[in-house]
Amino acid sequence: MKKLLALVLALVMLFTFAACGSAEKTLVMGTNATFPPYEFVDDNNNIVGIDAEIAAAVAEKLGKELEIKDMEFDSLLTAVQSGSIDFALAGMTVTDERKLSVNFSDTYATGIQVVIVPEGSAIKTVDDLEGKKIGVQTGTTGDIYCTDDFGQENVKQYNNGALAIAALKNGQVDCVVIDNEPAKNFVKANEGLVILKTEYAVEDYAAAISKDNEELLNDFNQALKELKEDGTIDKIIAKYIPAE
Ligand code: ARG
Repeated sequence: MKKLLALVLALVMLFTFAACGSAEKTLVMGTNATFPPYEFVDDNNNIVGIDAEIAAAVAEKLGKELEIKDMEFDSLLTAVQSGSIDFALAGMTVTDERKLSVNFSDTYATGIQVVIVPEGSAIKTVDDLEGKKIGVQTGTTGDIYCTDDFGQENVKQYNNGALAIAALKNGQVDCVVIDNEPAKNFVKANEGLVILKTEYAVEDYAAAISKDNEELLNDFNQALKELKEDGTIDKIIAKYIPAE
């Protein structure tokens, strides 16, 4: 009887500890779910997409639960720095500037900044953007490059790509600069828009992780490596980006 009591007590303690420890068993990802096919809100109000699935696969490898927080794109890096999220996975481009505030994981995808214009637009190449009104998502590399190259007065910032596209259709801007895969989605969903053949910039996507969390950086990279090697990443990407 005493033995049984001791066992029960031990089990109760074990569960109590497990429950206390569960906070650290959750990995919190921050994203901006306005960026199909990388992250978007589906008809059931779930955040889905390439990044959501890669994060789920990484979390599973690390034996953690995944929680996804949706926020403004330009708050993600501060959220990583403050620790309110463990990492940002948001089709985020690795840049030297951003590396000053966060660490980046190994890269898992390539992004290309492209230009969307109305069919028949006089804008044929990136050089033609000079003096034109350019729509961008606030804080993205499209925003940063266009501001640098064509002047802040010519760049109109929107909260997300869909709003920039709406402005393009209304004639409030002459073009939108955004990443190629979301661009394809937006053009498909909106008649009368085309993507210029000339690319503005080619970039790498990676997860942003706090400089104070070397351990997560290493774990994340290890998981990513395994998921690349066993074909999981390719499978996830192929699910959302049909081969042309
Ligand atoms: N690749 C661009 C950047 O890093 C745009 C990313 C936008 N991502 C998003 N989830 N809205 O600046």
